[in-house]
Amino acid sequence: MREAGRSYRDRRVSDRFPIAVLVSGTGTNLQALLDTVHGRDAQVVAVASSVPGVPALERAEQAGVPTGVFARAAYADRAARDEALADWVSERGARLVVLAGYMELLGAPFLGRFPGAVINVHPSLLPAFPGLAAIEQALDYGVKVFGVTVHFVDAGVDSGPVILQRAVELPGACDADEVLAALRPLEHELLPSAVRMFARGELRPDPSNPRRIAIDG
Ligand code: GRF
Repeated sequence: MREAGRSYRDRRVSDRFPIAVLVSGTGTNLQALLDTVHGRDAQVVAVASSVPGVPALERAEQAGVPTGVFARAAYADRAARDEALADWVSERGARLVVLAGYMELLGAPFLGRFPGAVINVHPSLLPAFPGLAAIEQALDYGVKVFGVTVHFVDAGVDSGPVILQRAVELPGACDADEVLAALRPLEHELLPSAVRMFARGELRPDPSNPRRIAIDG
């Protein structure tokens, strides 16, 4: 059978693991996914933004990926927005939801629609500096080691199980743009790696402590 010998490049679109990406801004992490895993291990089947007109939407359109805007102000409340967003993402067939600079909290009802299948990239070594302005928090604290975390999303703020982390020593850093520039390449490598691992079924919570994510392969 030729099936067993098929390379990733030969795979049909329908074979590729369908993912949705949620964004709110520039979309450099979305671009990294489009440039590396899209059309290979995974297929980005939907990009949804909480903000209209952001560069991330343009990046999706240029890649021919369907886009949607789910602005909080267009809905009665957050729950209504989350429901519309979850419906749209489900209709597109996504089996993993990737938060790539998505600046909104997602409630338990949304997360319940994609159990264990929502991941986020955060510009700090969690559990240090969760929430907004993580780099500024780290600079204010005076740390000398910065980093990036990719983690599963739970109902808390950046509190779900860690999938991948990487650190960078910047002992003299005092400027957020300088730190961001150092963290960008880490984000752009770690997020696609985590998506690839998820798509291949390589991420396995340890039954004795589901916060610990073992990586097979
Ligand atoms: C990244 O720094 C990510 O860690 C944080 O939001 C930023 C998004 O950047 N969650 P971009 O829109 O992907 O360029």
